[in-house]
Amino acid sequence: MCSNVVHKFVAPNCVLVHHTMNSKPPTSELQTAGSKIASLPNTPRIVLLLTFSLVLLTIIPLYLFPLLATSLASTSSDLSSPPTASSSSSRSSAIRLVGKRYPSSRCDIFRGEWVPNPSAPYYTNESCWAIHDHQNCMKFGRPDNEFMKWKWKPNDCDLPVFNPGQFLELVRGKSLAFVGDSVGRNQMQSLICFLLRVTYSVDASPTKDDRFKRYHFPTHNFTIASFWSPFLVRSEEANANGPTRTGLFNLYLDEPDTNWTTQLSGFDYVIISAGHWFLRPSMFYESRNFVGCHYCLDPNVTDLTMHYSYRRAFRLAFRVLNDLAEAGNFRGLVFLRTFAPSHFENGEWNKGGNCVRQRPFRSNETRLDGYSLEMYMTQLEEYAEATRAGRAQFRLLDTTDATLLRPDGHPSRYGHQAGENVTLYNDCVHWCLPGPIDTWNDFLLQMLKNEGGRGAAAGRRSWGLRKSTIK
Ligand SMILES: *[C@@H]1O[C@H](CO)[C@@H](O)[C@H](O)[C@H]1NC(C)=O
Ligand SMILES: *[C@@H]1O[C@H](CO)[C@@H](O)[C@H](O)[C@H]1NC(C)=O
Ligand SMILES: *[C@@H]1O[C@H](CO)[C@@H](O)[C@H](O)[C@H]1NC(C)=O
Ligand SMILES: *[C@@H]1O[C@H](CO)[C@@H](O)[C@H](O)[C@H]1NC(C)=O
Ligand SMILES: *[C@@H]1O[C@H](CO)[C@@H](O)[C@H](O)[C@H]1NC(C)=O
Ligand SMILES: *[C@@H]1O[C@H](CO)[C@@H](O)[C@H](O)[C@H]1NC(C)=O
Repeated sequence: MCSNVVHKFVAPNCVLVHHTMNSKPPTSELQTAGSKIASLPNTPRIVLLLTFSLVLLTIIPLYLFPLLATSLASTSSDLSSPPTASSSSSRSSAIRLVGKRYPSSRCDIFRGEWVPNPSAPYYTNESCWAIHDHQNCMKFGRPDNEFMKWKWKPNDCDLPVFNPGQFLELVRGKSLAFVGDSVGRNQMQSLICFLLRVTYSVDASPTKDDRFKRYHFPTHNFTIASFWSPFLVRSEEANANGPTRTGLFNLYLDEPDTNWTTQLSGFDYVIISAGHWFLRPSMFYESRNFVGCHYCLDPNVTDLTMHYSYRRAFRLAFRVLNDLAEAGNFRGLVFLRTFAPSHFENGEWNKGGNCVRQRPFRSNETRLDGYSLEMYMTQLEEYAEATRAGRAQFRLLDTTDATLLRPDGHPSRYGHQAGENVTLYNDCVHWCLPGPIDTWNDFLLQMLKNEGGRGAAAGRRSWGLRKSTIK
């Protein structure tokens, strides 16, 4: 099943598994459950890591493979091709696949290094109410604050730090939706914190449901909304326990999650993202028929892997956006915010795995690999397909590289009170605020500036003057 990967980096039915170079276990073994992997005699050390997600104040663990980039050398030639694929070569292929990257002009703002920035941070937990406790690392005693004091330096240009006044001018009278999970919401919180430096917001949420928030900025008639949709497609929790006591989800891979798809018509911008939830045990349905699962640990059920559902979910989400645009029901600009790697090291999430580094990596010190590379590539491939087919306008908010280099930016154990029960786990998935993901909004502003007169969103007003005065 995995042999047809040669011309495709991501085969839906293949799990990319880390292991050391000296051995090649049969792929069928690798595709099965963690317990089986662990019991293979003499196999490379495959670490099955669990990570977790702090979701709406609930601790819901989920499964994933590790990100121990330094100790896990290469991927098997059985599993990926070319066998020596380094992340950079596979990435450049993927980039070719995507075609026109952003911005199309001189400089690729998404490739670069983190450099010291003594002026940061630009807001604090005192100035910004939007910092959720789980990201309020200083409140819970994080001793170091150097992680706040970096900025992203693209290789061939400078990326200005976020300028809230400029941003608000660009989005005057407009609206922005975040669709995704708590990592997507994490970016929204950062954006709100930036904007609160120069203006105020009012809560304009339609209901009391925290999963669907709306914030209005009256000074600029600007609205931010969040739509909770961790799987992007219709889903339900089938079982709070599941095979691993971490929950089991039903994913309807060809059915839109109407919680967001029916609400987008008026939005000028949509930032869509998804990631870590796909690592959880889940059952897959297509045309209402059960087709397989991810990590359901049932010997009678085909494990199609999380890469199958991840691909299908993005494919459907993009198709819905294209259909809405085609029908004239959506005229916004869609940003795909790419996968944000987690940084557990030295163990599983529930066995002391942690993220304790206090400095960024340089780009030559780590690389994207394993399941993170798979997820990123899947996104790029589906994005390329959507832009080729599409009527909606898509842009790539390609945060993965910059984010990969920030193992120091996670809450770790400073996302909650020391005494809380969740002390058991370290959060190496979300991001402290202020922190590295503030840069995602630096990217966003730069992209909006580069939109200039182009784009459906821009079509409704004249940007010519703005463009020349702001740039
Ligand atoms: C902000 O962080 C400081 C520590 O730097 C902490 O003492 C304070 O309680 C926090 N404030 C809020 C509102 O979270
Ligand atoms: C505010 O923006 C919305 C679109 O987001 C628009 O429909 C409305 O007319 C604007 N209100 C004012 C007072 O400009
Ligand atoms: C959509 O929202 C409703 C509540 O507003 C919730 O019950 C349902 O599970 C959500 N659907 C998905 C796919 O999350
Ligand atoms: C798998 O299928 C076999 C034969 O139909 C059945 O005996 C067995 O109980 C099934 N196992 C599970 C875990 O459902
Ligand atoms: C990474 O690059 C920096 C600067 O170019 C260099 O000083 C450092 O030795 C390199 N590190 C590795 C692990 O190659
Ligand atoms: C704390 O965690 C333990 C083990 O998971 C659990 O049995 C216990 O009920 C939890 N206590 C509280 C107060 O949540």
